[in-house]
Amino acid sequence: MSGYPDYMQESIRKVESTRTKRLKETFPAMSMEQRDDVLNAFHPDYKGETFHAIRLGVSKGQRMPIELARLVEGRPHIGPDFDLSDPMAETDVLVIGGGGAGASAALLAQEQGAKVTIVTKLRFGDANTMMAQGGIQAADRPEDSPAIHYLDVIGGGHFTNVPDLVEALVMDAPWVIKWLEDLGMMFDKEPDGTMIERHGGGTSRKRMHSARDYSGAEIMRTLRDEVRSREEDITVIEFSPAVELVLDDKGQAVGAVVMNLETGVYDYVKAKAVVMATGGGGRLHYQGFPTTNHYGATADGVVIAYRAGARLGYLESMQYHPTGAAFPEQILGLLVTEKVRGLGAQPVNKHGEQFVYPLEPRDVEAASFIRECKERDNGIITPTGQPAVWLDSPMIEIIQGPGAIQKNLPAMVRQFGRFDIDITKEPMLVYPTLHYQNGGVRLKADSSTDVPGLFIAGEVSGGVHGHNRLMGNSLLEITVFGRRAGRSAALYAHEAKPGQPNLNHVAAWNKEMKEAGVETDVVSPILLPDYARRK
Ligand code: FUM
Repeated sequence: MSGYPDYMQESIRKVESTRTKRLKETFPAMSMEQRDDVLNAFHPDYKGETFHAIRLGVSKGQRMPIELARLVEGRPHIGPDFDLSDPMAETDVLVIGGGGAGASAALLAQEQGAKVTIVTKLRFGDANTMMAQGGIQAADRPEDSPAIHYLDVIGGGHFTNVPDLVEALVMDAPWVIKWLEDLGMMFDKEPDGTMIERHGGGTSRKRMHSARDYSGAEIMRTLRDEVRSREEDITVIEFSPAVELVLDDKGQAVGAVVMNLETGVYDYVKAKAVVMATGGGGRLHYQGFPTTNHYGATADGVVIAYRAGARLGYLESMQYHPTGAAFPEQILGLLVTEKVRGLGAQPVNKHGEQFVYPLEPRDVEAASFIRECKERDNGIITPTGQPAVWLDSPMIEIIQGPGAIQKNLPAMVRQFGRFDIDITKEPMLVYPTLHYQNGGVRLKADSSTDVPGLFIAGEVSGGVHGHNRLMGNSLLEITVFGRRAGRSAALYAHEAKPGQPNLNHVAAWNKEMKEAGVETDVVSPILLPDYARRK
């Protein structure tokens, strides 16, 4: 029995009938010019009318999606007179965010002798890290090197990346793999113990390390177990998102005001240094796209850090993963890992024709899918009106042999199998989905920011990937910069001489809003996505 409706069966037969031909012919990668053309015409980042230049703060003029700009220009939850005299907790390093970046930061800060408190919006580990599938890049083979990895990252980012940050990313990568393995991460290996490494889009060497297709969950399990085992020094406070940073009279970050999600009560957590690791904003659904992101991904860190004076960058650039699930409706937008294409699956239109090289850089691949549906009218339309193309997964076993899909992609098999779609025999329907925030708060290679005492790591930051991130560099980024942020914050905290905590920056923000004529009823960060039905 097929989980696809009858009207799609004829197209599935066409996909099947072209497999032998597609096996023999290699579809060519695009030239730089062809890439530029498809991006300009079809990538959502190039639709100028859906962006807004913000009118307030140190990065006035920065363009970003209107949905995000509304929050960045929002009103604070608390006023400048909020009582900071009786903090609910005091710590050396406050880590805001309980994903992979936050956990890495906490571990490294603790190793430098700091007492650490993690505050997290939902449960510890409810984060995009947990949902990452494909793998983590690191150049650790003789035919590869950090220099080649560097060139891939810069090329994928359209040569707009901050060079120092890319250098940090690729140089730390091999060490991070070793660190994770020493902590107990179960990487995919050959029988002789060597790491299995594969290609991702835009990579010139095989350097994607994985744990089946739940690499992020395995990283999060490893890091969370380790944090929990150091509970004497690392305290975790769940369901307590930060709503505002607290600065002292010298402008240093000295903690944050958090909200108890259950009671709605605000409280102050006092610290000598702060690490911001709050992730991205996929749940803002830019331009109406579905998302791969977890429920709490509402760009809180960008809003809070900006109000406290940290500069932003690259927020005119979002990542739309080419292969979000497009059918059935229950899993709309969920990730179909790039590893599916890395293993041999091909993107195919409703006529059974391959229309793009499977491993173009992500933005190019996504724009090509949109073109195939919107301009060429070669997509399948699902019963809810969602356009889609086929991702021909059975090709994987034709190329790699029987059992390859179950062995490498057990999570994908389960995700579609629940709806009677057997991806070893039938293709999947996919369409681009909002996946990652390329931009964010500007950081330096030691993870510091413009605000003294504020350090940053992971998707909340901007600059590492330029205007397009390659697969597997996000799990790498959270660990590399999470570690750097934790270490830097602890060293800073040892020397810090915190002054009187205050919320003067909130007063200044309110004044600037008034002077700029920004009127809004949006209170930000919004903390949870707004899915309320309205008339
Ligand atoms: O396709 C994927 O598995 C996603 C990986 C990533 O965003 O790095």
